[in-house]
Amino acid sequence: MSGGIAFAPWTASASPATSALPRPSSAPALSAVASTGPGSWQYVPIDADRAAACTYGHYKGHGCMYAVFRGIVESWGLAQGESAVAFPFAMFDYGHGGAGGYGSLCGALNGAAAAVGLFEPAQRVRDVLIADLFKWYERSALPVFAPAPVPGSTAPTAVAATSVAGSVLCHASIARWSKVTRADPYSTQRGERCRRLSADVARRTVALLNANVDVPRREVVVRDDSASCMQCHAPQGHAPVTVRTLMSCSSCHTVPPNHPVPSLSTPGPVLSKVLP
Ligand code: HEC
Ligand code: HEC
Repeated sequence: MSGGIAFAPWTASASPATSALPRPSSAPALSAVASTGPGSWQYVPIDADRAAACTYGHYKGHGCMYAVFRGIVESWGLAQGESAVAFPFAMFDYGHGGAGGYGSLCGALNGAAAAVGLFEPAQRVRDVLIADLFKWYERSALPVFAPAPVPGSTAPTAVAATSVAGSVLCHASIARWSKVTRADPYSTQRGERCRRLSADVARRTVALLNANVDVPRREVVVRDDSASCMQCHAPQGHAPVTVRTLMSCSSCHTVPPNHPVPSLSTPGPVLSKVLP
C-alpha cells in the first residue's frame, strides 16, 4: 500500500503515532487529485481498515456523513500516495443526525452513497452498490469497529452493545440502539456508537467499491422479509400496488387482515433483481 502511513486511528491529540498522518485542514490542496477534469476521480482499491480508522478520526465536530465521505476519499488519496485531497468536505456537515438532525437517512449511509456517487459513473452500478450497502446496514448488528488505543490519549467511551437498525433511518437506528442500551440519544455514548458505526459503514463501502473494480456489480439481492413483499409490490405498472422502495417493509408496515399475504413471518424467497 502506498502512502507510507501506519494503520492507526486518527485522534484529536497529536502523538508520535499520528503526527505523520495528514492534517488536511492545513495541508495544501494537491491539484493532481483536486481537478474536476475527466478521470480525476478514478477509483483505485483502498485499504478498508484504513478508511474505517480515518472515518473514526474525522467524526468529532462534523458528524457521520462528513466522517464517512472524508474517510473514504482521503484513504483513496493515500492509496495513490497523496497526503491530501482538495474537496469542500464541510458541505457534508449537514448530514449529521439524519440530515440536519431531522432523523431521516442515516448520515453515515448518506456520506457513503456520496462517495459511491463520486467514484462510480454508471447509475445502474451505483444504485446496486448503494442498495447492497443499505441492505447490509438494515440487517447488521452494529457497531463492530473498535479503535485501537493510542498511547497518551484518553480512552474512548466504551460501547459494548450492538443493535440491528432494521431501517436506514437515523431515527430508527438510534432508537433501536437506545432500546438495547437504555442510553439517552443525546448522550456521549450514543455519539461514540455513531462514530464507530460510521467507521463500519466506511469499511463496508470500501469493500464494495474494491470488489466492484474487478467485477462490476449488476445485481441486488434482497434477503429480508421485503423479498416476499416485492414479488407483488415491485413490478412496474400496477399503481397503487407498485411501490418504489427497497427499504425493509416491516420497519414501517404491518399488512392488513384481508391482505393477500397475511403474515410478515412467512419466509420469503430471496429476491434477486438482475440489472439489464
Ligand atoms: C401475493 C401478492 C402480494 C404480496 C406477496 C404482498 N402484497 Fe401487499 N398488497 C398486494 C395487493 C394486491 C394489494 C392491494 C390490495 C387491495 O387494494 O385490496 C396490497 C396492498 C398492500 C398494502 C396497502 C394495504 C392497504 O392499506 O390498503 C400494504 C401496506 C402492503 N400491501 C404491504 C405489503 C407487505 C409489507 C408485504 C410483505 C410482507 C406485502 N404487502 C406482500 C399484494 C401483495
Ligand atoms: C419508512 C417507512 C416505510 C417503509 C420502509 C415502507 N413503507 Fe410503504 N408506505 C409508507 C408510508 C408512510 C406510506 C403512505 C401511507 C398512506 O398514505 O396511507 C406507504 C405506502 C405504501 C403502500 C400504498 C398503501 C396504500 O394504502 O395505497 C404500499 C402498497 C406500501 N407502502 C408497501 C410497501 C412495501 C412493499 C415496502 C417494502 C418494499 C414498503 N412499503 C416500505 C411507509 C413505508
